[in-house]
Amino acid sequence: MPSVTLKNQIQMPLLGFGVLRMKDPEECERCVEAALDAGYRMFDTAASYGNEEAVGRALNRAVKAGKVRRDELFVITKLWITDAAEALARQGFETSLRKLQMDYIDLYLIHQPYRDYYGAWRTLEKLYREDLARAIGVSNFSPERLVDLCMNTEIPPMVNQIELHPFYHQDRAIKVMRELGVQPQAWAPLCEGLKNIFSNRTLEKVGKKYGKSAAQTALRWNIDRQVSVVLRSSQREHMEEDMGLWDFQLSEADQKAIDPLDLGYSEILDYENPCIARMFNQCCRKGETE
Ligand SMILES: NC(=O)c1ccc[n+]([C@@H]2O[C@H](COP(=O)([O-])OP(=O)(O)OC[C@H]3O[C@@H](n4cnc5c(N)ncnc54)[C@H](OP(=O)(O)O)[C@@H]3O)[C@@H](O)[C@H]2O)c1
Repeated sequence: MPSVTLKNQIQMPLLGFGVLRMKDPEECERCVEAALDAGYRMFDTAASYGNEEAVGRALNRAVKAGKVRRDELFVITKLWITDAAEALARQGFETSLRKLQMDYIDLYLIHQPYRDYYGAWRTLEKLYREDLARAIGVSNFSPERLVDLCMNTEIPPMVNQIELHPFYHQDRAIKVMRELGVQPQAWAPLCEGLKNIFSNRTLEKVGKKYGKSAAQTALRWNIDRQVSVVLRSSQREHMEEDMGLWDFQLSEADQKAIDPLDLGYSEILDYENPCIARMFNQCCRKGETE
């Protein structure tokens, strides 16, 4: 599995498997097992997804069965807004660790740029120093919030996981991350299946040249700009198809052909809209998760 080197020199796979909305534990375990069989080694969950236990069960079972070694896995989980404060963050981390039944997390992220994320970050720095998290980072941080965080912390984030797909390029955000040495990671690299991405004419046309599908073309487009991606699928055939990225590379002209697809805004979750900050804070007061 090709990987990228994070600022602290650890390797993070370029492709991983996410489990958003896999609320049913049995279904989640089945998908994680199928993804392992298809060759995925990076798994992305979150406290708010409500499935860390199921992910942990499937991964630990595979380790015990000798299918994979723990050090071959790259496990990502995230601190939810309710625990985004200096004292609460440790409790949030320990709960995730216990649910996953693991001794350490490969990458621990602050899930949202809300509430006391500076306080939470200080706790993440401690977790990193204690070797409980091999790498630490953030998610959904806009360029200016990221610059500010990087300039006011002892250990700057190593990763920022944000929405990135052919309909939302976020070139400026990626440029800022590169300048800061923060590795971009894409969530919803397949735009959650919206906007008819799998039958998009441009993606199909580009992909056809390489004998690849629109989904593979969309994923490879991010990989070619050295963006790590985490995708979700409940179907073995799709998991295998999405893994078929390593025998081709988009030419410069084909990358340019994808440029016009960029809307310049998100149709999934618009972080520039103040209502989103209000919504997340209100959910958090009511104790709701995603
Ligand atoms: N940090 C954050 O705030 C944040 C936010 C959102 C997501 N995430 C992470 O990113 C991961 C991926 O994003 P996502 O789950 O939102 O969406 P996504 O991966 O962009 O899209 C998932 C959809 O694509 C379909 N799909 C996958 N491969 C396909 C293929 N080859 N052909 C046709 N359909 C295909 C899946 O359907 P099938 O089940 O039928 O294959 C599913 O409906 C999440 O699971 C989560 O781990 C993080």
